[in-house]
Amino acid sequence: MGIQKVGIVGFGAMGSGIAQVCAVAGFDVLVRDVEQRFVDRGNERIAASLARVVKSGKLTEAEATAARGRVKGTLALADFGDRDLIIEAVVEVLDAKKEVFGELDRVCGPATIFASNTSSLTIVEMAATTKRPDRFAGLHFFNPPVMMPLVEIVKAITTSDATIEALRDFVQRLGHTGVVCTDSTGFIVNRLLVPYLNSAVRMLELGVASAEEIDQAVKLGLRHPMGPLELIDYTGVDINYHVANVFFEEFKDPTMAPPPLLRRMMLAGHLGVKTGKGFYEYDEKGKRKT
Ligand code: 3HC
Repeated sequence: MGIQKVGIVGFGAMGSGIAQVCAVAGFDVLVRDVEQRFVDRGNERIAASLARVVKSGKLTEAEATAARGRVKGTLALADFGDRDLIIEAVVEVLDAKKEVFGELDRVCGPATIFASNTSSLTIVEMAATTKRPDRFAGLHFFNPPVMMPLVEIVKAITTSDATIEALRDFVQRLGHTGVVCTDSTGFIVNRLLVPYLNSAVRMLELGVASAEEIDQAVKLGLRHPMGPLELIDYTGVDINYHVANVFFEEFKDPTMAPPPLLRRMMLAGHLGVKTGKGFYEYDEKGKRKT
């Protein structure tokens, strides 16, 4: 039978995207957030994204409606007792994640697998606080999960082979591609991405080229769908700043350290698409103005 019922903690951009991917693949999905307005916003995100997928012709209206019907929202982790797999996608704050897993550990039976979608924290640090460190792994999706086919399946030193096999099977059933890696900070993609994004910000600081020119160069010269500064705006200046700080703490490698401009943008509230201003300006629908 394998995994059938999935619980997702956090109904933000990542949680709602992961919920949508699971629901489209036929899983029964329960998503929890701390306030009803966040649950409502998550449901709206899924509806809007499914509408785009239908418009693209990749799903029929009936398939999208069925997928929406498979996602339920809740405010209570106590409702997660029947879940086979729980994916945590709350803020990147270790104590917040530990609190979620502590409560889930009391609510869920021993067979439930726990996974964190963290992009920067160490999996074993969360796993070790639960009674199931062997059934605990990283499951790292990329933004937007609906469009990005990769999932890093992260094996902590405590994770059992059986857990990794169950997660490989799960990711395959989502129609995504899983790559297995160890619990090394940044896993594979962010370990490469962070120094690259930092370098782009430093080039801008040094006046090597304008934001527009740096992004154009990478899109046309490397065929990336977004330039590095556009990508920081898309994923969030605050998130990139935070992740770079965690990486620098771990590796003490100056290429990982967040550039001063990123910190100043964060302090100013210039967080990218979500606040309407980052390296570029955006309208309320997130469309580029400048
Ligand atoms: N839901 C549904 N459909 C979506 C969508 C969404 N959220 N976002 C985009 N689409 C669809 C559009 O409807 C469109 O469909 P169509 O071609 O059939 O009309 C198609 O995708 C293309 O969209 P757009 O024309 O709006 O824009 P792009 O061609 O630029 O594609 C993108 C958007 C897929 C986001 C693309 O720009 C991209 O791949 N960007 C790079 C994203 C990336 O690198 N993500 C990883 C970030 S790092 C990370 O997540 C790690 C973390 O730990 C920080």
